[in-house]
Amino acid sequence: MPKNILVTGAAGFIGAAISKRLIERGENVIGIDNFSEYYDINLKKARIKRINNSALKSSGKWNFFNISIEDKSRLNDITDIFSPDIIINLAAQAGVRYSLDHPDQYLNTNLVGFGNILEICKKHCVENFIYASSSSVYGGNKKLPFKESDSVDHPISLYAATKKANEVMAHSYSHLFKIPSIGLRFFTVYGPWGRPDMAPMIFAKSILQKLPIKVFNNGNMFRDYTYIDDVIDAIESCCYKPAIKNSNFNFLDPSPESSFAPHMIFNVGSNRPISLLKFIEVLESELGVVAKKEFEAIQPGDVERTWANIENLNSWINYKPKIEFNKGIRNFAKWYKSYFHYPQ
Ligand SMILES: NC(=O)c1ccc[n+]([C@@H]2O[C@H](COP(=O)([O-])OP(=O)(O)OC[C@H]3O[C@@H](n4cnc5c(N)ncnc54)[C@H](O)[C@@H]3O)[C@@H](O)[C@H]2O)c1
Repeated sequence: MPKNILVTGAAGFIGAAISKRLIERGENVIGIDNFSEYYDINLKKARIKRINNSALKSSGKWNFFNISIEDKSRLNDITDIFSPDIIINLAAQAGVRYSLDHPDQYLNTNLVGFGNILEICKKHCVENFIYASSSSVYGGNKKLPFKESDSVDHPISLYAATKKANEVMAHSYSHLFKIPSIGLRFFTVYGPWGRPDMAPMIFAKSILQKLPIKVFNNGNMFRDYTYIDDVIDAIESCCYKPAIKNSNFNFLDPSPESSFAPHMIFNVGSNRPISLLKFIEVLESELGVVAKKEFEAIQPGDVERTWANIENLNSWINYKPKIEFNKGIRNFAKWYKSYFHYPQ
């Protein structure tokens, strides 16, 4: 029997990709997105068009609604019609740097909107709730690689603080209302149909237009880049394996990585940090153009290194990232040139 799966942020980078995958599996997907103007809405519309085309050829069903997760009343109307079995919450105000100047959007979408989604989970007694957290919750931690058992009490941006807040909010609902919930801490997702505010697209645009790129922290930055298909594999597998409680939970020495409630948190990364200079070198090679580099200091809110320990996700769903970095950048560069009509 197909499941009714509500995907929020369905016009976004990750939301569009998981919606497409689930429809192709034959599920009934209900996508919602408010086409927030944080970045080019034409890209969001193009992602929706791509899902529409895919839905025409698939056995699954696809319904899309332009609504905000902050709009409790419309959210209730839609979910009362479809009664979701599974909810995947990817809608958020994303981005670390933007949170310095636009705090309200983070408070409204990431906290109030997230709270509304939890209420929907409760009302419909969903069998599984999956939501996006972020590697940014590790904040100022210097202990590498980042592990789910590490403390995440020292965020260095409001964005990170809202993601940590989501984890504890979801935990409380998971405990009180027995909602199996999984929080996925994504590590720098990249690939075709990506986000224009992230390094691959910012750099590709400038490099192809022969404009200088800003290399922050003089290039001394490392990111655990995770290819979009690997992220989608992880979300898909988690969809069919709801969280369980740890019946051996140690109340006298509680670990952040497990719970007495059916709530689990996983890193979704590659366990393969890439330096900013290496990343630029591979992108230059795939685009066939050498970048003009301007070296600058680190930006407020940015962390120097991310590196995911992925053992827990591997144990839970046998997660193994498949796409090697150069191949991932090649796929991205190819898509970028084709989408923006550059000669291949
Ligand atoms: N891409 C990454 O590297 C990354 C890393 C860590 C965490 N995340 C998290 O993963 C999730 C998906 O990220 P993404 O990269 O696809 O970002 P994205 O910005 O492409 O997608 C988010 C979507 O949510 C929509 N949205 C924003 N506010 C909304 C609201 N109030 N109501 C309904 N829709 C709303 C936006 O229009 C957008 O289409 C986000 O929660 C993000 O914080 C992403």
